[in-house]
Amino acid sequence: MQVAVVGGTGTLGSAVVRDLAARGHAVRVLTRSAPRVPVAGTVHHPVDLVTGAGLDEALEGVSAVVDAASHRGLRSERVLVDGVRTLLAAEERARVGHHVEISIVGCERVPFGYYRTKTAQEEVVTHAPVPWTLLRATQFHELIDEILAGAAKFRLAPRGALLFQPVDVTAVAARLAAAVEAGLSGRVRDIGGPIVQSLTELAAARRTALGQSLLPAPVPPIGRVVRRVRDAALCLDDDGEAVSFDYAEWLRRRYGKPGR
Ligand SMILES: NC(=O)c1ccc[n+]([C@@H]2O[C@H](COP(=O)([O-])OP(=O)(O)OC[C@H]3O[C@@H](n4cnc5c(N)ncnc54)[C@H](OP(=O)(O)O)[C@@H]3O)[C@@H](O)[C@H]2O)c1
Repeated sequence: MQVAVVGGTGTLGSAVVRDLAARGHAVRVLTRSAPRVPVAGTVHHPVDLVTGAGLDEALEGVSAVVDAASHRGLRSERVLVDGVRTLLAAEERARVGHHVEISIVGCERVPFGYYRTKTAQEEVVTHAPVPWTLLRATQFHELIDEILAGAAKFRLAPRGALLFQPVDVTAVAARLAAAVEAGLSGRVRDIGGPIVQSLTELAAARRTALGQSLLPAPVPPIGRVVRRVRDAALCLDDDGEAVSFDYAEWLRRRYGKPGR
């Protein structure tokens, strides 16, 4: 099948590209910049979701689109909401039969800018004329690690009762690739990691894995965002699917043993 992966060089998108290529699909990588290390057998098409440039050519003859594009800065709405509208309009013109979208578990429960944008993006996708499948995932291990690495640069380890259920990005990518092959499924089962852990526990896991000595930096339970996350708003509900390995295992695979 000809499949386009928008955002196919990102944390999730590159894993989706690898998975689809390994399943034997013809994969097009749609991003602004070319991949630094292209996956064998895949083709890069330069596109910009903000301007729509390149989309018509890139989607010619494509059966399914996986949207793994993201932008976490001030322009997130232009990329994720206006951008997905532009993408879906181009898909309609190209008669793409299936749009596969990724969103975030509990995004509608947490009044944080990026999560509001994701909720608005879901609205656009689920009301679009292009047939769709929507998967929601919890935070990837890479994101948790990026946040904790940022604090560690200042010799700090955040402490707090905020709850996360981080997930292995390759497991999420595999679900998206399976959704492409399964065809239209609407909203599918949420996916997350095997265990819920507090920010304190996650920071301790990283400190131990990297053998670092850091000062505790308490995150006070102030504000609705922090309180909702503390109340497990970003974790799976009972009907979600917990998969794969936890953050401690991801740290072992990423960094090896302490002191190495
Ligand atoms: N990170 C998490 O923990 C997490 C958890 C659950 C769900 N998700 C969702 O998963 C998706 C992917 O997130 P991610 O963290 O993997 O993203 P990421 O690593 O930041 O990658 C973003 C991708 O989007 C592309 N992109 C950005 N602006 C673009 C534009 N204007 N036009 C075309 N492509 C553009 C980037 O390539 P160029 O810059 O070259 O264009 C890159 O390939 C998002 O929808 C996110 O909400 C993420």
